[in-house]
Formats: sequence, structure tokens, C-alpha cells
Amino acid sequence: MKKILALFAFVSAVLGTGAFASEAGVKLDHAPINVGDMASLQSGARSFVNYCLNCHSASMQRYNRLRDIGLTDEQIKDNLLFTADKVGEMMTSGMTRKDGKEWFGAAPPDLSVVARSRGADWLYTYLRGFYRDSSTTTGWNNVVFDRVAMPHVLWQLQGERVRKEESLKDAEGKEIEDGHGGVRKVVKFETVAPGSMSGSEYDVMVRDLVNYLVWMGEPNQVLRKQVGFWVLFVLGIMIALVGLLKSAFWKDVH
Ligand code: HEC
Repeated sequence: MKKILALFAFVSAVLGTGAFASEAGVKLDHAPINVGDMASLQSGARSFVNYCLNCHSASMQRYNRLRDIGLTDEQIKDNLLFTADKVGEMMTSGMTRKDGKEWFGAAPPDLSVVARSRGADWLYTYLRGFYRDSSTTTGWNNVVFDRVAMPHVLWQLQGERVRKEESLKDAEGKEIEDGHGGVRKVVKFETVAPGSMSGSEYDVMVRDLVNYLVWMGEPNQVLRKQVGFWVLFVLGIMIALVGLLKSAFWKDVH
């Protein structure tokens, strides 16, 4: 019994760690994605190629795989093929690992399966979580990735935000103590320079980008879900037929 309990505790500890994917204990925003939404995937693919492939690669992904999200070879060639000559080539980056390390202090990792390691909610929070911080090398910091070496590449869209800590006040305007000799603080983000997009437009843009990253992490998932649906559908019909057959057979027995 003791052994079983220990095993149970171990398994729940291992499973539990997945839920705490953010570093500083920040609450992650839920990413409202749908990998069956082709328009969203196409828009995400466009953003990915335009804003991310300069530094990152997606070396497990061929450009022509984008046919699966409803694009033709012509569309891929004319609009998305920036780092290769043929649609059959991999989504590589123009930057080498060595350059990346030299320029940013950390090499931009390959993003082929980043959605599987980080999860959609983390990515959604990360890409919306940059703020100005003059103490870092890039001048940017991030709510879920403290002192990240990546600059905020989408800042022209989102605008510039700063992080502000304000002390929490009670109804009479007095500061509330935190029980450790200090006062309780709330963290706020303030837009100091607006971007070209509104807040909700930016959220949609990032949602599509994360949707694309999730799809790219497992391109077969759309097909797998469709196949799963039809398998269940056909099984359902078979069960109904077998039921009818059974009553036909037993009709004369009674
Ligand atoms: C200017 C170069 C550059 C561009 C452009 C860029 N990144 Fe990055 N990115 C980096 C660097 C450098 C790191 C490594 C940060 C570190 O380890 O501190 C990084 C890290 C990341 C990570 C964290 C990976 C992990 O699991 O640790 C994600 C996710 C990411 N980038 C996504 C993106 C997306 C999505 C885009 C396009 C919108 C993008 N990046 C554009 C340079 C870039």
C-alpha cells in the first residue's frame, strides 16, 4: 500500500510540473487557438516567415508542407519563400548559430517543435509580454522569460510598454504591509508609445502566430483529428447496422 501511495505521489509530481511552465510563477494567458482554422494558420505562417525566420529556423519544416494549410505552391513561392529558392527546401534561417551567439549572447533556438516544449499558453503570453527595460542588453525584458536575449521584434505592432510597480493601498489610501516588512505591490504595464495595431488586433495576430507554431510542431494533427472523426462516424453506423441485424435475426425466435 505504501509503495502504491509513493508511486502515486511520484506520478502526480511529474505530471504536475507541466502545469508550472512559466519561470517566475507568472500566470499564463490562455491561447485561444484552433489548428483547424486555415485562415488563422495562413496568417500565422505569413507572420512567422516575415518576423521570425530572420533569426530562428524551423529546420524540420519544408515550405511545401504549407500546402496542408491550404496554400498553393505559387502562393508559397510568391509570398513566403524568403530564405530558400525552392518550395521543397527546409525553413532555414539566414543566421548561423555562431552569429546569433555573438550578436545576442544566446543562439536563437530552432522553433520547429517549440510549441511542444513550451506549450501554446506560454508562447501566447511570451509574445505579448515584452516590455522596455533599460538594464538589459537589448533594452527589452519579458514577463515569462526574465532577461531574454531576444529583442521585441514585434514592437512596431504592439508599441512600447513599461513595467510599473505600484504599492497597493487600502480604502483610506494607506499602503498595505506584506508581512515581511515591506508593502504589497501590484505590477502594471503601461503603454508609452502605441504600435500600429490596437491591443485586440495584436492579440489576434499573436494568436494566429501561436496557432501556426502549434500546427508546425505536429503538422499531422489536423489530418489525425479528421481521420479520427470519420473512424468514429463509420463505427457508429456499423453499430447501428449490427443492432438492426440482431433484431432481424431474433425476430422469429420469440
Ligand atoms: C533578432 C533576432 C530574433 C528574431 C527576429 C526573433 N527571435 Fe526569438 N529569440 C531570439 C534569441 C536570441 C533567443 C534566445 C533567447 C535566450 O535564450 O535568452 C530567442 C528565443 C525565442 C523563444 C524562446 C525559446 C525557448 O524555448 O527558450 C521563442 C519562443 C522565440 N524566440 C520565438 C520567436 C518568434 C515567434 C519570433 C517571430 C515573431 C522570433 N522569436 C523572432 C532572437 C530572435
